[in-house]
Amino acid sequence: MSARSRWSAALTAAIGALVLLTALSVAAVMVIYSWPHTSYPVAPKGEVVVVLGAPLASISPGDAVRFDAPDGAAFITSGGGTSAVRKTTKTGWLANTSSGLLALDATSSDDGCTVHFDPAADRFESPCHGSIYALDGRVLRGPAVASLSHLAFRELDANRIAVVGSVA
Ligand code: FES
Repeated sequence: MSARSRWSAALTAAIGALVLLTALSVAAVMVIYSWPHTSYPVAPKGEVVVVLGAPLASISPGDAVRFDAPDGAAFITSGGGTSAVRKTTKTGWLANTSSGLLALDATSSDDGCTVHFDPAADRFESPCHGSIYALDGRVLRGPAVASLSHLAFRELDANRIAVVGSVA
């Protein structure tokens, strides 16, 4: 085999290897993007039963009652605040809004401080940087830009709710 033939064979092999590597890379990317996955950091695993500090019927329109997860349990947010979808939280507020009872994550979407309820103004306030949220969790004043996340729940009886979450 002449030197020219060897050079030609080596070049053909190199080009073939490059084509093969390119095809494998494209296939790997396609597999990665088509593989079933979730973009959520935490998947709901059940319900956390919460005993409220006041009967459900006593939460008047415009009012809100705080609730906390029992030891070893956590709530999992279900949306409503784009910065905190399906993350865990230990504290929520059950608010009686114009569209009914709404459970909200008490975590400020700005930087994670726990919001307080101001019954005189029917709104939630973050003690850290002054963000204010409406009774339904919408941002009324920043720096927060995302509303408070919602918590999915159902009423169990007069003073208990079951909130989507995880129990250790
Ligand atoms: S953490 Fe709530 S305003 Fe910054």
